[in-house]
Amino acid sequence: MTLIEKFYPVMKPWLFRLDAETAHTLTVKMMVIAHKLGMLKSVVTTPQQPRNVMGLTFPNALGLAAGMDKSASTVEAWSAIGFGSVEVGTLTPRPQPGNPKPRLFRLPEHEALINRMGFNNPGIHSAVKKLRHRRTKAIVGVNIGKNFDTPNERAVDDYLICLKAAYPVADYIAVNISSPNTKGLRDLQAEGAVRELISALKKEQVALKKEHGKTVPLLVKIAPDLNDMQIEALARVFNEQNIDGVIATNTTIDREAVAGHALAQETGGLSGAPVRDRSNLVLQAFRMLLKEQMPIIGVGGILNGSDAVEKLKAGAALVQVYSGLVYRGPGLVRDILSSI
Ligand SMILES: Cc1cc2nc3c(=O)[nH]c(=O)nc-3n(C[C@H](O)[C@H](O)[C@H](O)COP(=O)(O)O)c2cc1C
Repeated sequence: MTLIEKFYPVMKPWLFRLDAETAHTLTVKMMVIAHKLGMLKSVVTTPQQPRNVMGLTFPNALGLAAGMDKSASTVEAWSAIGFGSVEVGTLTPRPQPGNPKPRLFRLPEHEALINRMGFNNPGIHSAVKKLRHRRTKAIVGVNIGKNFDTPNERAVDDYLICLKAAYPVADYIAVNISSPNTKGLRDLQAEGAVRELISALKKEQVALKKEHGKTVPLLVKIAPDLNDMQIEALARVFNEQNIDGVIATNTTIDREAVAGHALAQETGGLSGAPVRDRSNLVLQAFRMLLKEQMPIIGVGGILNGSDAVEKLKAGAALVQVYSGLVYRGPGLVRDILSSI
């Protein structure tokens, strides 16, 4: 066990006394310092099983989900603790502060989080600047969205701005239309809206491929709160538009799994253990409906190695985690990598 893995269980009770967002900021800062001091290096000895997905070679199947590194400033540190990929963002064309605090809540009894961060981010251009100088073996995905004050009728413009800016520095681009914390964003999952958005982005991808001489895969990140008809409609559009991959899923607005908890009624997206089953069902449904070669990145409720194995069995080509890290610390990375 590495120093950082031993350190987290000691720190956790202290961190959990702090408000969730403060603890998060502090932990990430400590990790970056540990990385600069060379304390994370030893973790990379975890056996690597590269995966070829979408024409990219992922050093392993485990990725950091979007939302942890919203500014693309800590990619190297996450790579050093063993992640094969890091999805930065969500990034929007203009910087924005996000929702008022508090906006992140822990529900430890359920190993869950509720967040309504609202795309707090420094803007796509700032992130791109940082990624130009990246020195990491990890695959870097750039997750893009729209500004909170851009009406849905002009959402396509925001995504196009982000796609063009991110294309030269990203290994893949994730189109986020599933955050519950930007008013109207999930409406972009409706069949007509998603077709319009994806066809514009795929068209731009062709032009950018010519300009930059490389293909950067385009994935769409979807919500777990979709009924069968919505899933079928989305899969139809993804197949018809030849999207390069799907990320299933984002957080849920459903509260059934945490009913009765003092924080259950906080507005936002619920993540961690309570989203696992729903997320897996959505993943399985898409796996049945999507073209065979279209990969799915499975995310939602992975708290240990066997949860990750379950996602791979359900049809995921790769997996990602966020909330599990808060509850299990960096030891989760080793647990998952030794299980998959
Ligand atoms: C605090 C927080 C912020 C998040 N921010 C984003 C985001 O900006 N963009 C995004 O696509 N997903 C975001 N997510 C969703 C995660 O990437 C992931 O899809 C979700 O939490 C389910 O995975 P988990 O159960 O492992 O946490 C966020 C999640 C949390 C907990």
